[in-house]
Amino acid sequence: MKFLHATLLLSALVAQPVLAEFSFTDSATLNGVPIPKSEIKLEPFEPIPRRINHNASAPAASSAHRKVRRANTAAYSSNWCGSVSHTTSTNQIKLIHAYFQHPSCTKRTGVTMYPQAAAAWAGIDGDSWTSALLQSGTVCKIDNSTGVVRNEAWWQWVPSGAFTISSMPVAANDWFEVLINTTSTTAAKITLTNISQGYAYTVTVTGGATLARVDADWILERPYYGSSLAGFAQFTDVWFQEAYATLSNGASLGILGAKQYQISGTCASAEYDNADLAAWVP
Ligand SMILES: *[C@@H]1O[C@H](CO)[C@@H](O)[C@H](O)[C@H]1NC(C)=O
Ligand SMILES: *[C@@H]1O[C@H](CO)[C@@H](O)[C@H](O)[C@H]1NC(C)=O
Ligand SMILES: *[C@@H]1O[C@H](CO)[C@@H](O)[C@H](O)[C@H]1NC(C)=O
Repeated sequence: MKFLHATLLLSALVAQPVLAEFSFTDSATLNGVPIPKSEIKLEPFEPIPRRINHNASAPAASSAHRKVRRANTAAYSSNWCGSVSHTTSTNQIKLIHAYFQHPSCTKRTGVTMYPQAAAAWAGIDGDSWTSALLQSGTVCKIDNSTGVVRNEAWWQWVPSGAFTISSMPVAANDWFEVLINTTSTTAAKITLTNISQGYAYTVTVTGGATLARVDADWILERPYYGSSLAGFAQFTDVWFQEAYATLSNGASLGILGAKQYQISGTCASAEYDNADLAAWVP
C-alpha cells in the first residue's frame, strides 16, 4: 500500500508542468552483485556547473613534447580540452563509449584561486548543439590551500544540474568505463564503471532536454562552480581509450577528424589514433 501511494503521488507530481524536470531510476553493482538501493547515494553537485565557453580566438597551446598524430583541426575553449566529433542530424549518435583514467590532481603552481578542479567525461552534444548536453565522468576538486583532493563521479543532463554519485569510490589513477546509450532524444541509460574496483553504476533517465545527438565529446574540462571557472588543478595525463560513438546507421564515429579543443596555456590535447586521445598540462 505504501508503495502504491508513493507511486501515485509521484505520477501526480510528474504531471505538473512546473515540475517538468526529467526523472530517473538507478542501480549499482559491486563485482556483479547488486548493491541495496539504500546504499546508492546521489547528491546535487553544488553549485551547478555551467556548460561550455569556447573561445576560437585564443592562440595555439604548446604541444612540443608529445609525439602523436595531430591531424585534427585545433580549436580553443576556455574550459574544454579534448575531442569533439560531429555527425549529421540524419545520422544521429546512438551511444558514446570510452575508457578513461581519472587523473592524479594537485594544486597548480601559481594558482591561488579555489576551488581548483579538473573533470574527465564523455558526453553527447553541447558543442554545435548548445541547448542540451548529456555527460558523465569524474572530477577532482581541491577546495582550499590545504591541497586535499576530493575525487568524485557524476552525471548531468544539461541544462539540469549535475549529480555526484557519492556512493561510488573514485581514486586517483583509477580507470573508468563510461557508456551513454540513448533510446531517444530525451531518454538514455548511463553506465559508469570503476573498473579498478568493479563498481558499476547505472542510471536510466527520461524526459531530459532534447538532444540533437550530433556532437560526440571526450573531454578534460576546467569546470565552472557557480558562475566562475574553478581554478584549473594540475593533473596527470588523461587518456581516453576505445573512444567511439555509434551512429544510427550502425557506423562508428571516432577521434580522427574531430575538433581538437585546447585550453590556451593550461591544457593541450591530441588524438593518438581513431580510438585514443590524451589531454595533458602543457
Ligand atoms: C579568448 O581568447 C582571447 C585571446 O587569447 C583572450 O583575450 C580572451 O580573454 C579569451 N576569452 C575567454 C572567455 O577565455
Ligand atoms: C579544506 O578542504 C578540505 C577538503 O574539502 C576540508 O576537509 C577542510 O575542512 C578545508 N579546510 C578549510 C580550512 O577550509
Ligand atoms: C543500447 O540500448 C539498446 C536498446 O535501446 C540495446 O539494444 C543495446 O544493446 C544497447 N547497447 C549497449 C552497448 O548497451
